[in-house]
Amino acid sequence: MAEAPQSATARAHSNIAFVKYWGNRDQRLRLPANSSLSMNLADLHTTTTVEWDGELKADTLAINGSIAADRALKRVADYLDVLRARFKIRRFARVSSMNNFPMGTGIASSASAFAALAVAASAALGIRMSEREVSILARMGSGSAARSIPAGFVEWRAGDSHESSFAQSFAPPQHWNLVDIIAIVSREHKRTGSSAGHETADSSVFQPARVKSADERLRSVKSAIMRRDFEQFADLVEEDSNLMHAVMMTSKPPLFYWEPLSLAIMTAVRSWRRRDNLQVCYTLDAGPNVHCICAASDADAVASRLRALAGELDIMRSSAGDGAYVLPAD
Ligand code: DP6
Repeated sequence: MAEAPQSATARAHSNIAFVKYWGNRDQRLRLPANSSLSMNLADLHTTTTVEWDGELKADTLAINGSIAADRALKRVADYLDVLRARFKIRRFARVSSMNNFPMGTGIASSASAFAALAVAASAALGIRMSEREVSILARMGSGSAARSIPAGFVEWRAGDSHESSFAQSFAPPQHWNLVDIIAIVSREHKRTGSSAGHETADSSVFQPARVKSADERLRSVKSAIMRRDFEQFADLVEEDSNLMHAVMMTSKPPLFYWEPLSLAIMTAVRSWRRRDNLQVCYTLDAGPNVHCICAASDADAVASRLRALAGELDIMRSSAGDGAYVLPAD
């Protein structure tokens, strides 16, 4: 008799890196070139149900209610192969994923997507794992997903092996009331995604210098967060983003993610901080959208200044969030 399908639903939040992950020492295992540091985003999350079903002939994927049959399905099925090998099962899975933030805004969904998938897939099988083991498992789907497993402010130590490369929380979300105001500069799909970008990082002469100095920066950013020292935090976060984009722009082929409006916002953010004493700084991932990280008390002012600068600009907003968790079955 066929076994009954086993299912579970999990939720994970997106995260924004203050010290970036860019480049891998091992592409297949996603062992990063450097350690990174991030904050989970409470208001941007993915909720995923995984149903392991012996009757299925292949994995299936639905994203926001639409069947995915392209690259997204291939990436999820490849990841489910990793899980099948790890859990020693042969069954295929029905995966259904919902993002509470609009798709196609260039806002990374792979971190929350693979974190939620790792938690739901293992919970469905009744497998109990430590947070560290789940972070390692999520890393295999998407590097930054390792950081969406623990809560709040998170550090992903690069490690030197599969077992030693995982993320841990160093402060809970309530520790510091920071808000990420995301200026949506372009809704276009990125031409080169992070996975392809990581592969060319080593072709930039700047990558060794960025990697070599990353640990020192990480220590300083962590210390600024622990002391809630916005001035020090802001300078380091902007420097780290600029360093990653310098690597991107000097890779072969070069990757230019900034749009003219991204640069206009970055310049404005610096002057709002320097001239007007607003607690705000910028950071950009592999896309033109600008994450304006600010003190909660300055968030409204930053949002209205962004609108004044760019008219019809779409804005998303989030404070620091929890780690990934299993939702109760209904
Ligand atoms: C620029 O985790 O998206 O956002 O492991 O290939 O899925 P894959 O890459 P991903 O890379 C994130 C890159 C970044 C910086 C960061 O979040 O640290």
